[in-house]
Amino acid sequence: MAEPVIRIMDLWKNYAEDGAGVPALRGTNLEIKKGEIVALFGKSGSGKSTLFNLIAGLDRPTKGRIEVEGQDLEALGESGRTMLRRLKLGFIFQFFNLLPTLTVFENIFLSLELAHRTEPELAFKALKEVGLEGKEQRFPNELSGGEQQRVAIARALVKRPSIILADEPTGNLDTITGNQILELLTRRCHEFGTTLIMATHSPLTCNYAKRILRMVDGIVTEETSCEETAH
Ligand SMILES: Nc1ncnc2c1ncn2[C@@H]1O[C@H](COP(=O)(O)OP(=O)(O)OP(=O)(O)O)[C@@H](O)[C@H]1O
Ligand SMILES: [Mg+2]
Repeated sequence: MAEPVIRIMDLWKNYAEDGAGVPALRGTNLEIKKGEIVALFGKSGSGKSTLFNLIAGLDRPTKGRIEVEGQDLEALGESGRTMLRRLKLGFIFQFFNLLPTLTVFENIFLSLELAHRTEPELAFKALKEVGLEGKEQRFPNELSGGEQQRVAIARALVKRPSIILADEPTGNLDTITGNQILELLTRRCHEFGTTLIMATHSPLTCNYAKRILRMVDGIVTEETSCEETAH
């Protein structure tokens, strides 16, 4: 059996430094295998974004262990975590998070540069893959919401990361556009063998994921079907 691409053991996060208050993560465990396409459902405040930030090494746990491709994030140190993030992880957010003063092309190219790749043709190819050929020189505010999200997908995919973390990737889109985005994102991840975790409130996402997880009060559990998610 191959090593899981993400392994989480007894993970705790308490934002209050004095340990007061309710922890955002409460000793959760999780294993994700290479190439899995996963939906993580959970109410607002259940801890989904907290979990993503910890997996990405943007924040550190209060207790517990996270391994990404077999590497213990704590042992990597700050610079090791930054390298891992730039080389191995892609992010997609609800509000796209494109840099407004950079063109579509430049937004993609920056992600490549941070991963030590400088081939402009890779950026053009990534934009073509999401159907945005010809819009390379536009600025983000000259695109529709769905188009901006496609730029965000291209930016995540361009460096061929092993993992993409998508936090409410369709939260800001209408149903039809949301479906198109999920179709595109999951198809590309499947094609490239990219592991995809989508944190979401939206039942739409269920149809595109092979595995359904639920986060309740800082603990992740396995869900067997989509039905329970539709509330
Ligand atoms: N930087 C922070 N400082 C203090 N508390 C925080 C911080 N970020 C999140 N929290 C708290 O941690 C808990 C989990 O928040 P988190 O953002 O992970 O939830 P979520 O599942 O992503 O919610 P949503 O669906 O609304 O995005 C919440 O109680 C929240 O108030
Ligand atoms: Mg969140």
